[in-house]
Amino acid sequence: MIRVQVPATTANLGPGFDCLGMALELHNIIEVLPLAHGVAIEVSGEGAAEIARDERNIVFQAAQRVFQQVGFIPGGIKIRLINQIPVARGLGSSTAAIVGGIIAANIISGGHLTIREMLPLAASLEGHPDNVAPAFLGGIVVSLMADGEVKYLKITPPAGLKVVAAVPDFALPTRTARDLLPQQISFQDAAFNVGRVALLVAALHQGDLSLLNTAMEDRMHQFFRSTLIPGMRKVVAAAKLAGARGVTLSGAGPTVVAFADSNFDLIARVMGDTFRESNVKVKVMILKPGTVGARALEVR
Ligand code: HSE
Repeated sequence: MIRVQVPATTANLGPGFDCLGMALELHNIIEVLPLAHGVAIEVSGEGAAEIARDERNIVFQAAQRVFQQVGFIPGGIKIRLINQIPVARGLGSSTAAIVGGIIAANIISGGHLTIREMLPLAASLEGHPDNVAPAFLGGIVVSLMADGEVKYLKITPPAGLKVVAAVPDFALPTRTARDLLPQQISFQDAAFNVGRVALLVAALHQGDLSLLNTAMEDRMHQFFRSTLIPGMRKVVAAAKLAGARGVTLSGAGPTVVAFADSNFDLIARVMGDTFRESNVKVKVMILKPGTVGARALEVR
């Protein structure tokens, strides 16, 4: 049996659409066991009520992709998921399923694929590499697809940084949140984001949190998505007033994340209260950056 632990992730970090992401200290466990025949899937924790228990399951599909790629044909498979990552909330739950399925299937089939080979496979299943790269590697990762590969560099998260995540109780599938985006943006808005994302990467690399408020601004995606997230803009403003260094949508949303190095409890309280004022039920978590990426915990 292979047991893989995969961290949650927060992608985009504001202006870094599809190219920036960070692992978080919140994990899913994916256990995979080859069987003589049949498919058996068990789910506990987050998503237990809604995650598919048949061939539509994302872990199953990711594992099948690896088996196809390496030419391994298992008789059957048992998958057990123990989930901490809320599903379809912008915290990388589908990424964790894909990455966990790929790593477990790779070990079961003889470990033929390297991380450099598994990364593009995961990114192609997910559609973009910004969550899968930090899920594999831990830390903050700048990543993009080029020449069939995921090109990436890792940044160590600044000391003392924590992420306050306000997780609304409604799902927002990434596809729906991407359908809200325009086909084109103006030259001015593109220049706005290019400057911010460059400043953000430099600020994170140097551990200078004082620039995050400006560096995490964005004009590419959050405005359009805010129409589906009641109270989002008020939550962002309230978290900043409470002392957050930078505040943004997590991935495609609906979770809002505040980056902070102090006032964590206050920030958590005002984010929760402000969402509730807009009649959004919400769970708030204070999370450390995940310095370790996905790993196989047990092989027997
Ligand atoms: N970057 C993606 C998006 C979500 O904003 O649609 C996370 O992969």
